[in-house]
Amino acid sequence: MQNNIATKKETLFEKEVHQGLTAYPKYLSSKYFYDAIGDKLFQDIMALPEYYLTNCEHDILKTYKDEIANHFTADGSPFSLFELGAGDGKKTKVLLEHFINKQLDFDYRPIDISQNALDQLESSIKQELPKVVVSPLQGTYFDTLKNIGQENKKRKVILFLGSNIGNLLHDQAIDFLRKLKEVMQEGDLVFMGFDQKKDPQTILDAYNDPTKITAAFNKNILTRINAEMGADFKLDTFKHWEVYDPETGTAKSYLVSVKKQDVRIEQLALTVSFDAWESIHTEISQKYDDKVVAWLAKESGLAIVSQFTDPKNYYKNYLFKK
Ligand code: AVJ
Repeated sequence: MQNNIATKKETLFEKEVHQGLTAYPKYLSSKYFYDAIGDKLFQDIMALPEYYLTNCEHDILKTYKDEIANHFTADGSPFSLFELGAGDGKKTKVLLEHFINKQLDFDYRPIDISQNALDQLESSIKQELPKVVVSPLQGTYFDTLKNIGQENKKRKVILFLGSNIGNLLHDQAIDFLRKLKEVMQEGDLVFMGFDQKKDPQTILDAYNDPTKITAAFNKNILTRINAEMGADFKLDTFKHWEVYDPETGTAKSYLVSVKKQDVRIEQLALTVSFDAWESIHTEISQKYDDKVVAWLAKESGLAIVSQFTDPKNYYKNYLFKK
């Protein structure tokens, strides 16, 4: 083991784990679900029959690709299609293919923190849709957008799919939308997915699959702490638990300790004590309705231009302008 304790700088992950596991009640951030294993588990989740979000959004894009294209090209000028957190781009490719067929003047700029994810996406697009001009941007959403907004005079259309905004509390979402607005110019657009309120059972089932893939995804944060911070979490002593509050529209994920136990996190020089049935809150997956989205838009100074939904009204994509 390296003996550089005095000089070693804590990573943000370490700092947040320390904070969250010494707080009461305990919590960890869902942004740490995603390493190579977590990315793969989330891809498996998107293929689950219970996880309706992906299919609904895919349906919406397929059904309304022409209307969406018309909105994106409203003033006829060329545009850059930015995508925040593109993932495997499966849904985006529906739009990209259509835009190529319509011979739209655009380029595609996926933004992600993971260079690995971007490399995979770029090579799959070059193979499947060689006519798309793609230039990936590695970095955090806003730093990258800001730089581009300054150097690139092209009109911007910004995609944020998958109801990824649902990981944010409303105040954080408003902050996020305000920052988006700041990097936008007149004529720029945002196209964003928002999972909708629906039968609470349908929502619970989407986060509680019988094959336990969602449980493994949730526990991957403990796997990462074990691997990256020398911890000894025993995964089978934590139970994945999902709740949904139909009043607030908030789905919450927990890991619940099934017994009283101590967990050692060597790198943090920390022993964390759990009482029997004590919880760690790990994720929120917010569900929306038109009133809430209209309120978020108003609070952040964006205007809703249009919205698109699937036949069951499970999911909606909204188009915003500045
Ligand atoms: C990627 C944040 C949209 O909250 O639905 C899936 C992540 N968590 N199953 C979601 C997730 C559990 C997902 N988002």
